Amino acid sequence: MADTYVGAIDQGTTGTRFMVFDHSGQVVANAYEKHEQIYPEPGWVEHDPMEIWENTKDVVTTGLDEADLDAEQLEAIGITNQRETTIVWDKETGKPVHNALVWQDRRTTDRVEEIQEAGKVEWIREKTGLECDAYFSATKTEWILDNAEPLKMEASRGEDVRTRAENGELLMGTIDTWVIYNLTGNHITDVSNASRTMLYNIRDLEWDDELLEEFNVPKSMVPEVRPSSDENTYGSTDADGFLGAEVPVAGALGDQQAAMFGQTCFDEGDAKNTYGTGSFYLMNTGTDAVESDHGLLTTIGFQMSGEPVQYALEGAIFITGAAIEWLEDVDLINNAAQTAELARSVDSTDGVYMVPAFTGLGAPHWDGRARGTIVGMTRGTRKEHIVRATLESIAYQTRDVAEAMEADSGVETTTLRVDGGAVKNNFLCQLQSDIIQTDIARPEVDETTALGSAYAAGLAVGYWDTVDELRDNWQIDREFSPEKSAEEVDKLYSRWDDAVEKSLDWAQE
Ligand code: G3P
Repeated sequence: MADTYVGAIDQGTTGTRFMVFDHSGQVVANAYEKHEQIYPEPGWVEHDPMEIWENTKDVVTTGLDEADLDAEQLEAIGITNQRETTIVWDKETGKPVHNALVWQDRRTTDRVEEIQEAGKVEWIREKTGLECDAYFSATKTEWILDNAEPLKMEASRGEDVRTRAENGELLMGTIDTWVIYNLTGNHITDVSNASRTMLYNIRDLEWDDELLEEFNVPKSMVPEVRPSSDENTYGSTDADGFLGAEVPVAGALGDQQAAMFGQTCFDEGDAKNTYGTGSFYLMNTGTDAVESDHGLLTTIGFQMSGEPVQYALEGAIFITGAAIEWLEDVDLINNAAQTAELARSVDSTDGVYMVPAFTGLGAPHWDGRARGTIVGMTRGTRKEHIVRATLESIAYQTRDVAEAMEADSGVETTTLRVDGGAVKNNFLCQLQSDIIQTDIARPEVDETTALGSAYAAGLAVGYWDTVDELRDNWQIDREFSPEKSAEEVDKLYSRWDDAVEKSLDWAQE
């Protein structure tokens, strides 16, 4: 009999990846495709859901073909995804009524401020663990229902979108739900993704009627919520469909929770930081939903079949890797790999600080009107200083949330597990270790997001029996320890706060 594996679809902000893992957690197939970033107005970010679905099919078939695998060799598929990004589609045709509103999209900032002024921030935080912010799916869904142009997309049939939603003709979902729906025909999400909508009560573990009413989202639109690793599975792919095989889809996790799972942060106090478009620092807090007094989010980490939900504290930083992409966009660098060499070529930034608040600031500041800024430039400032300041901004933002995490949880992280594209950069890893004065561990398999969702799906179908097997799979590639003194670092960090102050509340409308 041919060897069997578990597949993972990782639908991220910039592209879609399909990976196949073997029993030891090693990668045996990997295919990736980017999709278009649509910026209709400043601060607005959209994706085309149909492009995402087409790319998903492409990467799955390409990944299997290139590794010479048959779909029948997959025991299960796990899904992981950019979180919060919201799609509304027609129940009958499966066609979206509007492009997806991406998590970075700030168009609902006015609406959020209206809710804040109505004094509902605490009320929302108690139910959802979240800051009242345009980042989450609630105001995005409301915006689509109120603003999708009826005739623009085929699925709206020329009728008013809100009326169609109220008639039960439309469905909403985050990207996991969209992919699961297209793979299996079932309208399902997992608890970790539900917890990012600002419509789900993370203590009662159900859609919150009062929040659905506040945000004008008909209950008929929201998906069924399941464990992240589900023995009952979410359904299977169609043997007559693009894959030509019936493969159970048995696990789903928002990408940051998936990375936490892939980093085997199964125990209370375990923490990881993922460096992607943004950075997301999560600490497992066990079965306690720990409230934050320091601007962090309380979120659902994961849930295994038949087990209680595990919670996490999260420091959501909106822009880190995307700041490096911006350096490339404005031609300061040719590629991300160059940043380490350029940053090393100068001893310091010469007093330059860069705050990449391109889409507002997330944790711990939560200011949707903050904007990017570079301060401290002189006639002698060179591009090397700006590149170094950009890398430092990643490390400083992580320190902001690391300090908040320690204050909220009372747990001092002794070793931070890191992953994501940017951790290939040794300069950044060393810098990060210095700035937070903590050891950093980079695992061998750095695609922990896909791995985490494969683990969730594989555990559900018995490909792996226990989480201990997964712990054994986790191997360190390299550790970084602080080389700079705390004093030296504190001096640099103190001016970072001043720079952040300059970027807050910058946008007028
Ligand atoms: O909350 C947003 C986050 O899930 C996006 O992650 O890796 O797609 O940028 P990424």
